[in-house]
Amino acid sequence: MRILAIETSCDETGVCILEYTVTGVVSILGNALSSQIEIHAKYGGVFPTLAKRAHAEKMVPLLTQALDEAYLLEVIEEPIDSKDKLDFLNEKESQLKEQLSPFVSFYKKPDIDYIAVTIGPGLEPALWVGVNTARALSSVWNIPVIPINHMEGHVVTAMLSPVESSSSSKVYKVEQPQLPILSLLVSGGHTELVLSESFGKYQKIGQTRDDAVGEAFDKVARMFGLPYPGGPAISKLAKEYRETNPPSAHSGGGGENPFTMPRPMLHSGDYDFSFSGIKTAMLYTIRDLTSANSRELEIYEKQALACAFEDAAIEVLIKKTLKAVEEYGAQTLIIGGGVASNTYLHSELTKLASVKLLFPEPWLATDNAVMIGMAAMTQVISENITTREAETLKADGNLSL
Ligand code: KG4
Ligand code: ZN
Repeated sequence: MRILAIETSCDETGVCILEYTVTGVVSILGNALSSQIEIHAKYGGVFPTLAKRAHAEKMVPLLTQALDEAYLLEVIEEPIDSKDKLDFLNEKESQLKEQLSPFVSFYKKPDIDYIAVTIGPGLEPALWVGVNTARALSSVWNIPVIPINHMEGHVVTAMLSPVESSSSSKVYKVEQPQLPILSLLVSGGHTELVLSESFGKYQKIGQTRDDAVGEAFDKVARMFGLPYPGGPAISKLAKEYRETNPPSAHSGGGGENPFTMPRPMLHSGDYDFSFSGIKTAMLYTIRDLTSANSRELEIYEKQALACAFEDAAIEVLIKKTLKAVEEYGAQTLIIGGGVASNTYLHSELTKLASVKLLFPEPWLATDNAVMIGMAAMTQVISENITTREAETLKADGNLSL
């Protein structure tokens, strides 16, 4: 059974082909990914109309690349005319149509069983490019579409374990960890705690009320004049501070740090988060330091500030997550999303959590199509799929789990 998966919810365009074999393993036959980081870097965040245009530009080249890698790209002997099936693209997706038309009339229908596509949550103009591509291919090739919630992709990705003997060829087993599972999903767009009491069922028990944690990292990076996405750079500065101010000399994560940041909603009694307060506290601290004699921050100040910020943000995430683990009796804790690559979050959780911890492989933590294909694959394997008529497919920026 083969699935072609498409992801365009934010600033990564992804297309992949997955194959499930009777031996119970999933192989990544083809995988193509294009990041828009450079396009958005100068704006300090993702710009929706630019994201849409870049997705539309990259979609067909990535589709071609992924199918080619999977040896599923074959030229049609007798070119067909499927233009009217793509007419729905005329109005809003003409750029995509310009490339999709020759693609579908030049290449044969590939040997795949389903098309999986992210329908939300995310930036709606960006999501529509993927959704319309899936709709077009589904109607031309007559292949059913499985609509996927992006967040389910992040959860499922942490359940993948590489098959030892063939890890180089990217073969995975989808593990079924012990229930209930609590998932902490942390990215540039999301910060949420999701409880699964059975596989494929999700109940959101908490979320951010303002900024996502990755977004807060990115905004702090911007205050330091660092390019988007600045999460990894802030974390690196914080690490440098901890290395030069070893833990023996301090209480908390970051040495005798002259700076401390607030821990918003730590004792709110629910599982919601808020990160805009820490971000604002950072802004005021930086302003106080630099405005008096209009100077730049020194490197050691940046390191100490980054550490104070990371200590605060990660402490709130971990304490509230572990409280939820206890309250709901979770047996497995999954961490998903771009911020799952944060090494401080990783090391602190490893120290503090007493349940089974599952992190995604770093290359699968940030957005990609494999996570969408894997979510669809688990639905098909568990015979719990919802396919959708191509014409009824819709993107929903606020889709919830
Ligand atoms: O999941 P993702 O690729 O895209 C979204 O759906 O947002 O996550 C990207 C986010 C960015 O905000 C980025 O700064 C953050 O994840 N990020 C990190 C780290 N690596 C990526 N934040 C903190 N520490 C990291 N090591
Ligand atoms: Zn994501």
